[in-house]
Amino acid sequence: MSDRYQGFVSTPLGRLLVKNLGLPSPTRLERYAAGAPLVTGTVALGGEGRLSGSLPTVLDDLDIAWSLPTSGEKYKGLVFDATGITDSAGLVALQKFFTPLLRSLDTCPRVVVLGTTPESLTGSERVAQRALEGFTRSLGKEIGRGGTVQLVYVDEGADDAIASTLAFLLSPKSAYVSGQVVRIGAHQEKQAGPVADWSRPLDGKVALVTGASRGIGEQIARVLHRDGATVVGVDVPQAASELQALMRELDGDHLLLDITAKDAPQRIAHHLTTGHGGVDVVVHNAGITRDKKLANMAEDRWAGVIGVNLTAPERITRQLLDDGVLNDNGRIVGVASIAGIAGNVGQTNYAASKAGVIGLVDSLADDLGRGITINAVAPGFIITAMTAAVPFATREVGQRLNAMSQGGLPVDVAEAIAWFASPGSTAVNGNVVRVCGQMMLGA
Ligand SMILES: NC(=O)c1ccc[n+]([C@@H]2O[C@H](COP(=O)([O-])OP(=O)(O)OC[C@H]3O[C@@H](n4cnc5c(N)ncnc54)[C@H](O)[C@@H]3O)[C@@H](O)[C@H]2O)c1
Repeated sequence: MSDRYQGFVSTPLGRLLVKNLGLPSPTRLERYAAGAPLVTGTVALGGEGRLSGSLPTVLDDLDIAWSLPTSGEKYKGLVFDATGITDSAGLVALQKFFTPLLRSLDTCPRVVVLGTTPESLTGSERVAQRALEGFTRSLGKEIGRGGTVQLVYVDEGADDAIASTLAFLLSPKSAYVSGQVVRIGAHQEKQAGPVADWSRPLDGKVALVTGASRGIGEQIARVLHRDGATVVGVDVPQAASELQALMRELDGDHLLLDITAKDAPQRIAHHLTTGHGGVDVVVHNAGITRDKKLANMAEDRWAGVIGVNLTAPERITRQLLDDGVLNDNGRIVGVASIAGIAGNVGQTNYAASKAGVIGLVDSLADDLGRGITINAVAPGFIITAMTAAVPFATREVGQRLNAMSQGGLPVDVAEAIAWFASPGSTAVNGNVVRVCGQMMLGA
């Protein structure tokens, strides 16, 4: 499954047509290769706030080269500490820092603005911090050349918890994530220790991935395995041979069942307890579509989609929590969808299920305790068997209507999930991050 348009525009004829007709010209996105440095280049630091003192140490620990901006330098990333901006007049610091640097960025550059969670503030400071959202979302649409721009709101008290998020957002792991607002909270009684090895943060951990035999689920299994986890893949019995082959390759374990079966939560809990002594990471990836406009929707299409995409993740999560199968500092990750945020014709059932996944995050995030977190990814247009079935014209529009002018790859979703899964992400809780190349639909 490939993007034929992107292949075509890199031919001489394609380049000519792009130039003369003003067609979108997608940049080939850089993606992370195992063992490579997180950032190949230097990150320029700016801004004065409560995080600027610790930023150099955080980047040093991640082996990311940084400097203060020097004219004539080419930068791979820019990090701006905006936590010191206390009123609207102070926002000019953004223009002063960014404007001179934007022309001297490398390809696929990374921009991260750090702010203070507005809801924790009052008055003019709250106004100024909220303003950062419009700034970063617009710069995401302007930056071009495969660049990404994010805003990270850090609670006061969570200043020492930003490393895993910077490692993700500054590296090619976030190739298809842009225009996002991430919240890092002062978190919980139980904290995972510092990450010993950033190349294998999940060493010794057990990860359950549903729908693991193909598509996005297969890549999630591969990336979590790369990061050190033992993966337990779940899929329907019809997918047995693909699932077994993949889990053999990844030295993992598998469980064949329909997650909507009445006894599925108990069977999963039992398998994880007896075979692995519990579980550290749970990824609810299995999902289906049964599209029809609501006027023509039969009940089985409605119930099937809600059952797989929403009720099963809810029941499995509840079982693993109630039985204490999810270990301390456990991670629950849902797979929502842009359709659950923006809505989509023919997808009332699917969008309801995916908005419900966001509801599951909201309903549990504040009460989990024991260092456990819950977050979700909301993929946009990802090139898989699911989207290959979409008619050509709709597919073309879906792929181009984003700041990157291209569809994402399953690995892009998997990398975001691996960031949530990291033991370093204990303070990343209750987030829904879109992996959509900053799609134009739904803020
Ligand atoms: N591809 C996209 O563009 C896109 C966009 C947004 C969200 N998503 C979501 O990402 C997830 C993965 O999508 P994909 O494109 O890889 O789909 P896919 O159809 O390629 O894979 C889904 C997997 O889930 C398994 N599955 C389905 N029903 C199951 C059940 N009842 N029990 C156990 N396993 C079951 C399937 O057998 C399959 O292996 C889904 O939740 C989907 O809604 C995909």
